[in-house]
Order: sequence, then structure tokens, then C-alpha cells
Amino acid sequence: MKIAVHPVSDSELKPLITDTSKLGFCKFFTDRMFTMDYNEEEGWTNPQIGPFRPFEVDPSSLVLHYAQEIFEGLKAFKGKDGAVRFFRPEMNAKRFNRSADRLCMPHFLENDFLESIYALVNLEKRWVPDSKGAALYIRPFMFATDKALGVRASSTYVYCVILSPVGPYYQEGFSPVSLFVSDELTRAAKGGLGEAKTGANYAASLLAGRIARKKGCAQVLWLDGAEHRYIEEVGAMNIFFVFNGNQLVTPQLNGSILAGVTRDSVLRLASMLGLRAEERKISIDEVIGGITTGSITEIFGTGTAASISPVGSLQFKENDYIVNNRNVGPVSQQLFDTLRGIQYGEIEDPFGWVVPLQEPQEKVLSL
Ligand code: COI
Repeated sequence: MKIAVHPVSDSELKPLITDTSKLGFCKFFTDRMFTMDYNEEEGWTNPQIGPFRPFEVDPSSLVLHYAQEIFEGLKAFKGKDGAVRFFRPEMNAKRFNRSADRLCMPHFLENDFLESIYALVNLEKRWVPDSKGAALYIRPFMFATDKALGVRASSTYVYCVILSPVGPYYQEGFSPVSLFVSDELTRAAKGGLGEAKTGANYAASLLAGRIARKKGCAQVLWLDGAEHRYIEEVGAMNIFFVFNGNQLVTPQLNGSILAGVTRDSVLRLASMLGLRAEERKISIDEVIGGITTGSITEIFGTGTAASISPVGSLQFKENDYIVNNRNVGPVSQQLFDTLRGIQYGEIEDPFGWVVPLQEPQEKVLSL
């Protein structure tokens, strides 16, 4: 892939936000973006990096009406040594194509996916925050652009990558959140879109999120769509339960649960940290029973944005169930520290997960 790079004039360059406590999550975007077009005759064509700017979208574009859209999320981290590192980006490239299959969209070559990110981050290196906990969030996405209102898969698409410097997810430190167990609304059902990273799943989650906040909770604990009995996800994250301080249980992937990169990393880190890990069905009754008897010692969510997000309580059928006295447990803390240490290059990476940013090859960029 040969990427055409368009200049950004000095007057177009935005001021860096150096106070990372002001960054929040994806409120600011960098100076440039990557775009590429797809049509059935030529396939993927026209790779470009140019100024970050609004799209011109036809009002009849299919994505605006039928939500044919997919996205990914990953981060670049700057360590104390000044090196910029990506975390398992090939997992995002593979999942992007699995989401594309589910939404009837064209595949994007895994290598081109990675190259689009590396080339853009290379040009935007000054935006990778250098304080620990902050990172550059990378958002690749693809959407349908056919101008038509018939319900069908589009024959044209745009692929785009944008970047946002993000602050530490927990401004007040790593603190446990309260969950509202949604036993009426569901995020996804078997056979639906749950496994795909597509905007529709997040739209489906908004109403339950609003109800959770009205009930004083920060996030929703999702149950399965058929019986409202088995645990699926938490908010926009995967979920783990710690039994007796040393056994991890997470719902097995079943078609309606997103195959999270952090989820997979926690499962693989478990044995290194002396924990047993199990992927299986787990019901809300088992969870409530486990919290009540004390066999569930910790609960935490996993995702790219927050990494590890400890849970302090569950609200189920108007009752509150407190987990670990609303404190961060030792397993959540150890997993958080280990993942972060690997991502920032401070702990040896025994799995080969980390990909250092390299200078772009001449053949990739044409200026
Ligand atoms: C994640 O944390 O992995 C997410 O997907 C959150 C994102 C949708 C903001």
C-alpha cells in the first residue's frame, strides 16, 4: 500500500493538551486522519493521510439509515524510555474482519489495517501523551456510503482512522463502580450482532445505561437475551468473577459476547500469576449466591478504555449486593498493574504482545 500524504499547514496544527487531567476520554482529536475508499470494481483504493476534517456525507448514505458500520479501538502507549508501543494490534485487525463478515462488508487486508495505523501514528507521534495512564486512543472504522434507501448491503465504503489523546480512565484513582443488573432490556441476542464491534450494539445499550444512572449506578450488567439468566457483559466491557481469591470465571464466548482483547489477555495472564481461569456459563443466581456467601471475592470488567474496572456493588431486583466491601481486590490490582507494566514497557512481555512503533518505510508514504 502506498499512502498519499497531504500536508497540514502550521496554522492548522492544534495546540497539544499537555495537562493530561484535562484530556478525558476522546474529547480531543489529532491533526490528521487516514482514509481509504472501496468500490466493487477496484476494491480498496486511494489510501491517504490528510488533515482531520468533517466528511461530506450524502443524506441518503446507507450508514445513516441502516447502520452498516463497524469500528475498532486500541491504544498506543509511551513509556518512560520514550518508545511508543501498540498492544496486540493484530487482534484488532482480525476482529475488524470478523465484524465486517457479520455486517456484509468487505474485508480489509490485515497488513493494510496495521500499516494505516502505524503510518498515521508515526506522523502524529507528538500526540502520544507521556504520562503513565494516558495513551493515544486509535479508532479505525468503516461505513457504508451507497446513496440509496433500499435495505441491502452497500457496494461502496469508506475506511478511516482517527486518533485521540486520552487521560487516565480513573481521574480519582482506580475505584470500584456500581452495577445495575438489567433483567428486562438486553444488549444483544444469540444470532444477533453482539459479537461484532458495530455501533448498533452501543445504541442498543443506551436506554439501560440511562436507567442505571437514574438508579444511582455507573454501568449495566447485561444478561442473556433469551432467559435473562446468564451473565454476558458489563457496560461496554467483558466481565470476570474471582472465586475464593484465585479462580477466574468469565462467560464463554457464545455469539452475543464481544471477544475482547483485554479479556483474552487476562485469560492468558492468569496462569502466569498463579490463577486458574475458566470460560463458562455463569447465572445471575450463582453470582448473587457467591456474593452472599463470600465465595465471590472480586468482580471486574475488562476493556481497552479502562483496562481493568473493579466492581463494588450489584443492584438486582431493588437489592444491593456489596462486593469486597467496595474495595479494589488484590487480583484486580495485580492484573491492572501487570497489563499496564507490559503496555508501558516496564514489565517484560513474555507473550510478544507489544509492537514498538517503527519509522515508516519509504515505500509506504508518498509526500
Ligand atoms: C472498550 O473499552 O473496549 C470499549 O469498547 C469502549 C469504547 C466503545 C469506548
